Amino acid sequence: MRNYIQIKQKINSYNESILVSSDKSISIRSILLASQAIGISKIFNLLESEDVINTLRSIKKLGIKCKKHDKFYKIYGLGLKGFNTKNKLVLNAGNSGTFARLILGLLVNSDNYIKIVGDRSLSKRDFSRVVQPLKKFGPIISSNKGRLPVTIKGTEFLRPIDYVEERGSAQCKSTIMLAALKTPGRTKIKAKKSRNHSEIFFKNLNIPIKVKSEKKYDKIDVYGESNYKGFNYRIPGDISSCSFFIVLTILNKNSKLLIRNVNVNDTRTGIIKILNKMNAKIKFKNVRNYKGELIADIIVKSCKNLKAINCPEYLNSSAIDEFVTIFLIAAKSKGISTFKNLGELEKKESPRLTVAVNFLKKIGIKVLRKKNNVKIYGKPDLELKGNYIIKNFRKDHRIFMMSCVAALTLGGNWKLFDKDSINSSFPDFFNVLKKLGVNIS
Ligand code: S3P
Repeated sequence: MRNYIQIKQKINSYNESILVSSDKSISIRSILLASQAIGISKIFNLLESEDVINTLRSIKKLGIKCKKHDKFYKIYGLGLKGFNTKNKLVLNAGNSGTFARLILGLLVNSDNYIKIVGDRSLSKRDFSRVVQPLKKFGPIISSNKGRLPVTIKGTEFLRPIDYVEERGSAQCKSTIMLAALKTPGRTKIKAKKSRNHSEIFFKNLNIPIKVKSEKKYDKIDVYGESNYKGFNYRIPGDISSCSFFIVLTILNKNSKLLIRNVNVNDTRTGIIKILNKMNAKIKFKNVRNYKGELIADIIVKSCKNLKAINCPEYLNSSAIDEFVTIFLIAAKSKGISTFKNLGELEKKESPRLTVAVNFLKKIGIKVLRKKNNVKIYGKPDLELKGNYIIKNFRKDHRIFMMSCVAALTLGGNWKLFDKDSINSSFPDFFNVLKKLGVNIS
């Protein structure tokens, strides 16, 4: 079957209100934490994307009953020692780095050998970043030179560790937090700031945790082996999925968009802070607190006078999944934008810094790259006329959706490969575009 789309026309102006897919990070965490609770949890609005479906499937293989109802999923947690593992069980994480890493944390006390595998993109990603610290808790873990497949066999004799996380990776931090949940005593984590959904979830479930915020780091103490009960949770919209529609609206003419019910946790809103510094006027309305997470409706309008940014590095981790799309705004801004120390972008579903720089060059934008720093020379009048083919060799969902935004706002004839990649995070992407008047051929 044909796996590309063609875009030959720019999007028309719109004034609309939309919802985007539920948050992927919180969806995966809610399933994993529900699997460790005692009793039934009900998860409303769970993201039904491939990454999350692979999480559910794997949890079922580990002996946890999960059932889909009309409005929610029920997960029948069996407590911290509740996984019922068979020897040589294989869990397929598909494209999901978050699931593949976090589940290793929960398997530190497994009775048997469990193997984690993934798709071609995930198999190229680094797992030594979680395997090394997890080994210190006591389980036996082997990997393919730091990559998948990773095999783990837990131990009854877990010991707490001291761990320093220097990358600003929430996946690494959360993996260690989940292992700490199973381990007697206090695990001490010093982590460079990154999304804090796991910490908020732990607090919300009364799992003993202390978080002390410092300028660049958070110090997190987790006290393990504390059981908790099943819970109800409603997943909010994903700001990473919103990012495509925020940028689409800013770059489109005479348009306005209201995006309802989005998670705007401060550790995720780097994109808003960056784009507002570039003259966009994105606002939050109806801000509310839901179980420790901030939720809001986002209002965004077209912007004609975008200006370049010297992006402060402290915003890198809170915008990590959005940079490829933010670069489109830099491409249409007046002046030279600089972004520094984006090495972690190379470690994603594809080497995103390299892919995004090549993309910008392809559409006629001058980019200077030195190691992991880039300078983007903006062209406010950029208008495209030629033919553009985007192959997306690693089937990266965010590269595909960013390319759609470029095609719909910059002109030209586009052929964009790997439309199915949207299924890992945002299966509704084309439906939302349809609501804005775009029919994908
Ligand atoms: C995620 C953390 C980030 C992000 C990923 C989801 C999470 O990865 O890029 O999409 O849910 O914890 P890193 O922890 O590798 O930065």
